[in-house]
Amino acid sequence: PSHLTRAIQQLFIFQMHVQSMIMNKLLSSCPLYSPPLSVFSFSLPLFLPVCLCQAADLTIERNPVVKPKPDPSTLVFGKQFSDHMLNISWSAAGGWEAPQIKPFQNLSLHPASSALHYSIELFEGMKAFRGVDNHIRLFRPMLNMERMYRSTERSCLPLFDKVELIKCINKLIEVDQEWVPYSTDASLYIRPTFIGTEPSLGVSRTGHSLLFVIIGPVGPYFATGGFSPVSLLADPRYVRAWRGGVGEYKMGGNYGPTIAVQSEAAKQGCQQVLWLYGENEEITEVGTMNLFIYWTTEKGEKELVTPPLDGVILPGVTRQSLLDLAREWGDFKVTERRVLMKELIDALEDGRILEVFGSGTACVVCPVGSLLYRGQTYQIPTMKNGPDLAKRFHKELTDIQVEKFF
Ligand SMILES: Cc1ncc(COP(=O)(O)O)c(C=O)c1O
Repeated sequence: PSHLTRAIQQLFIFQMHVQSMIMNKLLSSCPLYSPPLSVFSFSLPLFLPVCLCQAADLTIERNPVVKPKPDPSTLVFGKQFSDHMLNISWSAAGGWEAPQIKPFQNLSLHPASSALHYSIELFEGMKAFRGVDNHIRLFRPMLNMERMYRSTERSCLPLFDKVELIKCINKLIEVDQEWVPYSTDASLYIRPTFIGTEPSLGVSRTGHSLLFVIIGPVGPYFATGGFSPVSLLADPRYVRAWRGGVGEYKMGGNYGPTIAVQSEAAKQGCQQVLWLYGENEEITEVGTMNLFIYWTTEKGEKELVTPPLDGVILPGVTRQSLLDLAREWGDFKVTERRVLMKELIDALEDGRILEVFGSGTACVVCPVGSLLYRGQTYQIPTMKNGPDLAKRFHKELTDIQVEKFF
C-alpha cells in the first residue's frame, strides 16, 4: 500500500506540475475572459485530494448595494474596494469549505485567532487590467499563485489548488468587472490573503484558516504620468530579511517591522529604504521593490544586475518579467548576483552607473535619484540617462498589460 500511495502521490505531483506549466502558459498569454473559463477544466488533475477547494462549488451572494465607482484620476492605493469579496474557509476537521463570493464586509474573528497573535498571515499583490480592446486581463497570475503556495507551505497553512484558486479569483473579477477602471493608466489591484483563525493561544500549526480575496481600483504610481525618482536611505543597522528567515515569502510579518525604518528614512529626508544585509553590506531590495542596477562593468561591458533569489529576496513577478524581457532582447549582459554596497559606491565614483531602479507590481519600474549612506548623499544619474532602460521596460510591460496579450 505504501508503494501505491507513493505512486499516486508522485503522479499527483507530476500532474500538478504539468497543470501548473500549462496554466502558466495559458494565463500568461491569454485574456481573462476569452477564451471562457470552462476551457481550463481540461487541465484538472485526476486525483484531487478532498482537501483542495473546488471552484465548481463556488456560490455567489450578490451585494444589493452597488457603490458608485470612483473617478480613476482620484484613486489612492488600497483605500477603495469593490462590492464583493471571495472567502474560502478551512478546518482540519472539515477540510476546505465551498468558496463563497459575498458582499464586501468586515470579518468576524475570535480574539485568540492565530493571525492576530503570531502573524500566521500571508498575502499576494497582483493586478487586472482593462486593455484598449476592453478585455480584462491578469498579468502572469500563476507566478503569484506559485509564490502564494510557497508562502502557504512555509506558514503551515493548508495547501490549496492554485488553478482552482485563480478560477475563483477570475469569477470574483467577473462579478465586479465594472470595478476594473476604464483607463489604461489605472487597474484593479487584487489582494489574496490567507490567515490562521485558530481560536487558541497555543503556538502551533493552525487548525482553522480563512483564505479571502479583496479587490479595488488603483491609479497610476506616478501621478504626473512621468517618472519621479526616489531618494533612498541605506543604513546597515537595519535588516529586512536574513538567510534562513522568511524574506522570500510574502508574509505580513515581513512588512510591519519595516514601517519604523521607513519613518526613520522620512525623518532623514529620504523616501524609501535601501535594504542592506550582512557584514559585507549586500544590497538586497528597495522599499517593497526588487532592485536593478544598470552599469558599465570595470571591463567596460554594459550589464543589468540584480541580487539573486538566495533567501533574502522576494521573488518579484516584475523582477522575473524584466529579466525575461532583457534576456530576450539580448542587448546587454544580464546577471543575477550578489552586489555589495562598496561596488555601487565605487561605480558611482567612477561614473559607471547608468541607471538604478526598483521593480514591482505597483510601479513596474521606479527610478532611484539619490542615496544617503553613512552621512553622505550620493546623486545617482538615473534620470540624466533618460532613464532609457527603465522607460523601455515600463513601456514594454505596460503595453503587454493593456493590449499585447494575444
Ligand atoms: C519586499 C518586496 N520585494 C519586491 C516586491 C515586488 O514584487 P512584484 O513584482 O511581484 O510586485 C514586493 C511587492 O510585492 C515586495 O513586497
